[in-house]
Amino acid sequence: MTGNEATPLRDENPDGSNPTSNPHLGDLIGRNLSRRSLMGGALAAAAATFLGGGALAARAGAAQPGRSGTPRDGDGSLLGFTEVPASDLDALVVPTGYAASILIPWGTPLFRNAPAFQEDASNTASDQEQQVGFNHDGMHFFPLSKGHEGNRRGLLVVNHEYTDASQIYSAAAGATITPDAAGREKVAKALAGHGVTVVEIEMGRDGGWEHKADSRYNRRVTGTTPMRFSGPVRPDHPLLRSAITPDPRGTLNNCAHGFTPWGTYLACEENWNGYFGTADTNWTPTALESRYGVTRGGFGYNWHVAEPRFDLAVNRNEVNHFGWIVEIDPFDARSAPVKRTALGRIKHEGATVTESRGRVVVYSGDDENGDYLYKFVGNRSWRRLRARGLSPLDHGTLYVAKFAADGTGTWLPLVHGEGPLTAANGWIDPADVLIRTRMAADAVGATRLHRPEWVAVHPRTKEVYVTLTNGTGNTSAVNGNRDPNPYGHIVRFREDRGDHCAQSFQWDVFVLAGDSQYDPRVPATQPVFGSPDGIWVDPDGRLWIQTDISNSSQNRADRGYDRIKNNAMLAADPRTGEVRRFLTGPRGCEITGVITTPDQRTMFVNVQHPGESTTFWDNQFGRPTPANPASVSSWPYGGGRRPRPATVVIRKLDGGRIGT
Ligand code: FEO
Ligand code: CA
Ligand code: CA
Ligand code: CA
Repeated sequence: MTGNEATPLRDENPDGSNPTSNPHLGDLIGRNLSRRSLMGGALAAAAATFLGGGALAARAGAAQPGRSGTPRDGDGSLLGFTEVPASDLDALVVPTGYAASILIPWGTPLFRNAPAFQEDASNTASDQEQQVGFNHDGMHFFPLSKGHEGNRRGLLVVNHEYTDASQIYSAAAGATITPDAAGREKVAKALAGHGVTVVEIEMGRDGGWEHKADSRYNRRVTGTTPMRFSGPVRPDHPLLRSAITPDPRGTLNNCAHGFTPWGTYLACEENWNGYFGTADTNWTPTALESRYGVTRGGFGYNWHVAEPRFDLAVNRNEVNHFGWIVEIDPFDARSAPVKRTALGRIKHEGATVTESRGRVVVYSGDDENGDYLYKFVGNRSWRRLRARGLSPLDHGTLYVAKFAADGTGTWLPLVHGEGPLTAANGWIDPADVLIRTRMAADAVGATRLHRPEWVAVHPRTKEVYVTLTNGTGNTSAVNGNRDPNPYGHIVRFREDRGDHCAQSFQWDVFVLAGDSQYDPRVPATQPVFGSPDGIWVDPDGRLWIQTDISNSSQNRADRGYDRIKNNAMLAADPRTGEVRRFLTGPRGCEITGVITTPDQRTMFVNVQHPGESTTFWDNQFGRPTPANPASVSSWPYGGGRRPRPATVVIRKLDGGRIGT
């Protein structure tokens, strides 16, 4: 990273921390694609092949609308909107016939007497605790009533992944964390900007949505909220005991999310390692800490300078309080969030919950270059467990994925005493396996992946989609002769017998992202896009794809991203493979988080980190600082005002379902 590069990388792990020589999916895809190309087609044929003959394959062979040049509209395509062009505007652009409005931007007062947002960022930590957090990410809408009313009133639950010191502090305060009361106040404001917002929202008569500042449901969960631990790992475990937080507090870097069939929300802890550091040069990481990327410098937050809680030399075990999936009951603002340790400790991107044979199944990617895909399978009916007062997320088995080159795969259990995870090999007990989940997965021979992000389950076909956002470190055929996989792709798999509890599956590549100008494997008729991250299959079967191109690559020709431009949201028809660009975001942002009301007539999408330091824009306009926070973007309010992460509400002007 040169001095000219944008600040990374609170959400990027370019080198990874996986020391194993486990095979990399890039290599497997390279072999797989070559084999399938010989069978007479490129990706479209590969997709049809994967679907295993039958109706789906016939459909895929019959229609590739976006690619073959046949008209895109009509013919039962799931994609009914007019594509928007790639954009480098400092604006959010939606298709003709759609309207977008802003809801709950960062700093929105969340309670009746909460302080107003101050444009100069002079709000205190205490103010921030009563306002919507920063950097909106994964999100879900919980209707507050059944039937029609549930489309007009509900709880929006939003993750706030991280804070940006150049945006959240005033010019007078500056971005530097000092070892004094001013520094502690800054850390406190950042901690209050993290976590989760629960907010009641309501549609007005004009179709516009507003939040209710006096709702009894409104809540902030932050980096200091008291937490419970459940499952095999408890706070009194020797690796978790902390003098400073004996009663665990806080959740951090909540990236994607999940929601359960019993009406709770799951916030996932992703790049938590970056918040910790120490000035103590005698501190060196253990093997466990190294495997999770814990370093003296962290990601440059420097919280440890002012706050011993985050100093690795002072409070070493605090770091092991993070890396979990956190269950929150959005309908009870006084309930304690619970870290569900049976789901493992990784850099959880998300937690996509489905069910099979009455059991809960949770898919979760570990977003680091070279890390793995996991799933948790409940061991009994979730309804019966709930009826006995037990959590379905505390009773089950964690598995990690192994992808074979022939398009098959297996789930390898991470169970203490099984396979290599024995006491003789140094695995003390089930808690030890879960605290060291990554190392357990290394030991059983999981397949290294290019940064697995969100997972989506098709509600009818039961196909599972996982975004591999981008990666380096291998020379797979997918990426030609360039840096191996700068654009990422989406892997699709189907569990055997369509049973999410199964221990084997078939997989393929659903779509390769990229720009055919730079990579001839990408279909020229496919809209250019890169670094897929958020995905969701809506009730019609439309696959929504959101991109998170790193700020060091966005818009840059020398990174092959000049035609792709700003981050975007696209939709794909899984039946045909067609992809169409639906929305483009403002400068320096990523697009993440997508959900609709049950009637699909209102869609919520998040614009995260608009105006963040972005190499391409920094070089033209200067790097954002507390004194000049709007150098890259002034979205959403323009006129040189401070950029603010926000939820965007999208409606169709004719009142129809989004995407049709
Ligand atoms: Fe926070 Fe992996 O995206
Ligand atoms: Ca990101
Ligand atoms: Ca993400
Ligand atoms: Ca990402």
